Amino acid sequence: MNRRKTLFRLLAGITIIFIFYSLVKNYVIDPSAAGFIGHKTGLRRTLNLPVWLNVMYVHVAFACVAMASGLLNFSNRLLEKSRRFHRINGYLYIVSVLIVVLTSGYMAPYATGGRVSSIGFNLLNMIWPFITIMALVQIKKKRMIRHRNWMIRSYAFCFTNMLIHLITTLLHYGIGLDYPLSYTISVYSSIALLLIIPEFVIRTIFRNPREHAIHS
Ligand code: HEM
Repeated sequence: MNRRKTLFRLLAGITIIFIFYSLVKNYVIDPSAAGFIGHKTGLRRTLNLPVWLNVMYVHVAFACVAMASGLLNFSNRLLEKSRRFHRINGYLYIVSVLIVVLTSGYMAPYATGGRVSSIGFNLLNMIWPFITIMALVQIKKKRMIRHRNWMIRSYAFCFTNMLIHLITTLLHYGIGLDYPLSYTISVYSSIALLLIIPEFVIRTIFRNPREHAIHS
């Protein structure tokens, strides 16, 4: 139980910092995404920047809502206090995921790194909603543990952007790979890690099959 509490606190800390960072970076420090756009070379389609930026603003806003609502629903204390809140907040999470995926669908063809990156993002656009809907299906069948496990798998994808930038930074600034190539590699390695890490968490920290509690 203690390990779950520790994990929850760690997750809460990372999530709060990343939400704050995403909002400040994309709406205050660099609202024209100049730094990021500068890395887009050899696009096969013309990018309509004002439209792309507006889509990106909606994308980031709902990504932050998904991160916040998802985190709150992992709190056992809140679940015990109000099932109604958990349910409404859960639907808010699902709607946010769908909006992030829809906006991602618009941005994917223009992805940094070209066609290979685009394919990676479109893969994500299918995996994330599928996993999220699985979590909903499980709770509709009153399978608590399976619902929790699918939600752990789904929530991991809230960290896609963070992981992509972390890996890109390591590859580009760390070992000097081209930015677009670093970005493409990071898209695929992030997908792999975001599928593997939750499985590891489910099989270690959430191992007990009869345990219905989540955290705190
Ligand atoms: C939930 C947390 C997420 C946040 C905070 C987030 C944030 C962002 C931001 C700020 C950008 C603009 C470029 C940059 O600075 O990276 C972006 C681009 C993008 N995001 Fe997300 N995102 C998230 C999750 C996702 C997920 C899960 C997907 C796919 C299902 C996705 C797909 C995309 C695509 C396709 C782009 C355009 C990439 C490019 O132009 O190269 N994002 N995201």
